[in-house]
Amino acid sequence: MIRYRRISVHDPEYAGEKELRHRVLRRPLELALSEEDLRGEASQVHIVAQDHAGKVVGCLLVLFSDERAKVRQLAVDAAYQGRSVGRTLMQLAEEAVRERHIGTVMLHARVTARGFFERAGYAAVSDVFTEVTIPHVAMEKRLEPCA
Ligand SMILES: CC(C)(COP(=O)(O)OP(=O)(O)OC[C@H]1O[C@@H](n2cnc3c(N)ncnc32)[C@H](O)[C@@H]1OP(=O)(O)O)[C@@H](O)C(=O)NCCC(=O)NCCS
Repeated sequence: MIRYRRISVHDPEYAGEKELRHRVLRRPLELALSEEDLRGEASQVHIVAQDHAGKVVGCLLVLFSDERAKVRQLAVDAAYQGRSVGRTLMQLAEEAVRERHIGTVMLHARVTARGFFERAGYAAVSDVFTEVTIPHVAMEKRLEPCA
């Protein structure tokens, strides 16, 4: 049973979120979460997935600036990948974007995850570029207005 919730940087789960991000997104690249990664996170939306024991097993952040919404730092614990945790996190991120009456979500996708985002309705809008040492592509999705 997975529970999804929004947290803030003041919640105890923030430490678990950062640990997951480090383990899934940075350690495999022999990197650590940088000051740049963490800057401004108090004002970003944090959505986490927790297992029955409360351990953070999935997360993403949504950064809002200039009427734009960017999903970043999507990570799912390897033991929980392939069980729709990533898809559900993206749906919840899109809800948060709609709440702010913003019509487009953008993100920088690792090329290895491009198919995941395409399944979720995102389309590439850039050439491939390098970020955190690996190839990425910018992707966007236009959200349907609420009924
Ligand atoms: C990419 C990631 C977030 C996907 O999360 P997940 O919980 O494993 O994905 P889901 O189970 O929700 O998959 C949803 C759909 O996408 C597909 N999918 C998942 N990962 C995929 C990938 N890397 N490439 C292509 N399709 C993928 C699934 O098969 C599923 O397809 P379906 O609609 O036919 O059932 C997760 O694998 C992960 O954390 N990977 C390592 C970190 C990473 O790459 N993060 C993204 C940075 S941009």
